[in-house]
Amino acid sequence: MKTDFLVIGSGAAGLCFALKAAAHGHVTIVTKGEMNECNTNYAQGGICSVTYAPDTFEKHIHDTLVCGAGKCEKQAVELVVRRAPELIRDLIEWGTRFDKTPDGRFELNREGGHSEHRILHHEDLTGAEIERALIESVKKNPNITVLEHHFAIDLLTQHHLGEFVTRHTRGLACFGAYVLNIDTNEIETILSKFTIVATGGCGNIYSRTSNPVVATGDGIAMCHRAKAITENMEFIQFHPTTLYNPGEKPSFLITEAMRGFGAILRLKTGEEFMDKYHPMRSLAPRDVVARAIHHELAKTGDEFVYLDVTHKDPDSVRSHFPNIYEKCKTIGIDITKDWIPVTPAAHYCCGGVKVDLNGMTSVKRLYALGETSCTGLHGGNRLASNSLIEALVYADQAARHAVAMLPKVEIQEGIPDWDFEGTTHAEEMLMILQSQREMQSLMSNYVGIVRSNLSLKRAMRRLAIIFEETEELYNKTKPNRELCELRNMIATAYLVIKQGRELKESVGCHYNVDYPKE
Ligand code: FAD
Ligand code: SIN
Repeated sequence: MKTDFLVIGSGAAGLCFALKAAAHGHVTIVTKGEMNECNTNYAQGGICSVTYAPDTFEKHIHDTLVCGAGKCEKQAVELVVRRAPELIRDLIEWGTRFDKTPDGRFELNREGGHSEHRILHHEDLTGAEIERALIESVKKNPNITVLEHHFAIDLLTQHHLGEFVTRHTRGLACFGAYVLNIDTNEIETILSKFTIVATGGCGNIYSRTSNPVVATGDGIAMCHRAKAITENMEFIQFHPTTLYNPGEKPSFLITEAMRGFGAILRLKTGEEFMDKYHPMRSLAPRDVVARAIHHELAKTGDEFVYLDVTHKDPDSVRSHFPNIYEKCKTIGIDITKDWIPVTPAAHYCCGGVKVDLNGMTSVKRLYALGETSCTGLHGGNRLASNSLIEALVYADQAARHAVAMLPKVEIQEGIPDWDFEGTTHAEEMLMILQSQREMQSLMSNYVGIVRSNLSLKRAMRRLAIIFEETEELYNKTKPNRELCELRNMIATAYLVIKQGRELKESVGCHYNVDYPKE
């Protein structure tokens, strides 16, 4: 199969790129599940954009830089903040509905680390609303082909033409991808002029995550294998408040917008503990709140703290957070009367595949967008609700860049089809599941909210064993989704540990007790 633009992933980043590029060439989107199985669909709090005074671009830039703990790329921050209003207009044109006040102005949320209300939202289901509008627009576009249940296995480069390549190979380029058709079990070769990896995050390398099961770091791992550069992988953001409901996967998020609305974190005793940790108390940046909860839980031996919104007007609580209200009711909690038990969970990968201001990776003809990428916007810690807007701004940047180069690029011929025949046995599935659990457990125990040199070293040793066993299995097994995901999670976990060991300080989301900070 040949296409101008091969987009891998159907979240906000991939769909927005497709809509922008489709006016200039044919777009093929492959996605491993149904179109709306993605992190985007779960986003609650909303999407950042400077909308009304007293907010300004300068304030949004400042908040992003402060939250990023000195690790942000200033140009990326300027780009996203200043272009955000344009992309919000595009979203509205594609049919997204944001909540408004009775006088017709956008109703703006506030979350941790923000000095102003600047988060547009649709109830507490903003991501689902954006995803709905994007999917409807994509379905109407005759220049976009969507292939659901198509799992990208690996990116094609000169390696597949028999050349020896490294991260330093000059002219290293991407020619498309090998893609597993999950329905037929065939591996298809899709050749493209440009390949866009928009496969989202990697929350499932941890036991507790707010991410849906599709977030297995596939794009980061594929780009790493294709010799693209990755960075900032140690900065895994833990969301402080997911519903404590043992056994539930993914962990259900209690949006930070609820703390922006006035909800207060409390210990079981009722003590409001955040004033010991930060002047912004319950609305402090996420890394601070997650570590504070971690610290309190370690002291008390409890498994959760509480979020209390019972002092707010019940009708207002129900109308702002209808989804959370209904969800909590199903486990017997009326959030207008009861405190909500919450605990942190892996939430967002601040690092990823290093890209420039056009979303271009270190490999030619290969772009990385959205949570898969590391644009430099988030630095050491992402400001809440900055990721959806980053995905959209960079999708637009990348589309403009690729479209301008389109006339000069040809499809690469001579790439061989996938030629491996193997087997899959039920017993292998059990091993895959067991290895996944072991990996998640070691990442949670040794590479979580608080790390140490020793814990990182142990994690790497144990991961190496799982890696070897998995490669052995991969080399004799016909690729299937579960095995490929495990392999990708191991590669992603490896990058988190490796880059974590290289950073000799505690900064942002990476807290190492051997390098304490105030
Ligand atoms: P996704 O939306 O995750 O899309 C990735 C796509 O790639 C999926 O379709 C997936 O199936 C596909 N895919 C993955 N691997 C493969 C493969 N090998 N082959 C084919 N397809 C593949 N951010 C905000 O800005 N505001 C919020 O309020 C907010 N709330 C959040 C709440 C929750 C519970 C979560 C989990 C995240 C939240 N985030 C929020 C973060 C934000 O949702 C994500 O960072 C963003 O949606 C990522 O978009 P994306 O397009 O990069 O990836
Ligand atoms: C939330 O609603 O708390 C999540 C926002 C985000 O992750 O940006």
